[in-house]
Amino acid sequence: MKIGIIGGGFMGEAIIKGMLNTNQFKPNDISVIEIDTEKINQLKKYNIQVHHRLDLLNNEKVVILAVKPQQVEQVLSDLSKNISPKTIVISIAAGTTIATIEQKINNHPVIRVMPNILAAIGLGVSVYTTSKQVSTEDIAITEAILQSFSKVVIEVSDEKTLDAATAIHGSGPAYVFLFMEYIIQSAIKLGINKKDAEQLVLATFLGSADYALQSQESLNKLRESVTSPGGTTEAALTKLDDKQLDEIIDSAIHAAFDRATELANN
Ligand SMILES: NC(=O)c1ccc[n+]([C@@H]2O[C@H](COP(=O)([O-])OP(=O)(O)OC[C@H]3O[C@@H](n4cnc5c(N)ncnc54)[C@H](OP(=O)(O)O)[C@@H]3O)[C@@H](O)[C@H]2O)c1
Repeated sequence: MKIGIIGGGFMGEAIIKGMLNTNQFKPNDISVIEIDTEKINQLKKYNIQVHHRLDLLNNEKVVILAVKPQQVEQVLSDLSKNISPKTIVISIAAGTTIATIEQKINNHPVIRVMPNILAAIGLGVSVYTTSKQVSTEDIAITEAILQSFSKVVIEVSDEKTLDAATAIHGSGPAYVFLFMEYIIQSAIKLGINKKDAEQLVLATFLGSADYALQSQESLNKLRESVTSPGGTTEAALTKLDDKQLDEIIDSAIHAAFDRATELANN
């Protein structure tokens, strides 16, 4: 199955790596359109076809839009002249709605995806929603592509839910990075050297997520299991409660959701 990726930047390359790591996609199935000469040269190591012009796409079954949101409109105009009938259009451009894509490209199945940065190491989370034209086969093809670079793939019923998910898994890695930064800062203030502090914090986050995934218990129960009455953890958690961490997080996530909705409506 021929797959064309438009934009071979950060996400485009993550998708290529993911697809090539499975046995389902072969290098000669994949073509990339990229305008940046340096990136074109970088992408050649994957032995895929790399072109600098969209009109060099040739009968692809799937076209993945992986350019920046501000570049999408121009790409769609060019694509509308070069796309074969029935080609599945998968867009990962943040804030670009299915209606915007359909204005330029008519009568094609359109799938709007929000992946996240963890796609770069094959551990992404991808959430998608589809236009009405999409068939069961189109969904199966899309899921196979998304699963190649994602640990979790979820279909949602509409774009509002996609914007909500964006506030969780799209922005989520930044929340986690920030939380880790703050804990590292505190560790350094307590006299732990930076290198050790980073190792302690990163391993604790990684292990906690893995432990929670492997456990049958709820997060609440897991938290209670490490919180002895009158102990150190309780002292810390009481402080977080006093400062209303739950409300801080809730308002931050709502701000991300509001911004995702605003960008989609522009
Ligand atoms: N990065 C993330 O973590 C992430 C997460 C979720 C969704 N996304 C979405 O993924 C999309 C791609 O993001 P990215 O971080 O991969 O951006 P990126 O690194 O800038 O990649 C986009 C690439 O497309 C190239 N390009 C621009 N116009 C083109 C055209 N007409 N034909 C072919 N190639 C063209 C760009 O070249 P120039 O640099 O020369 O313009 C650039 O190399 C965005 O829409 C973003 O919203 C990204």
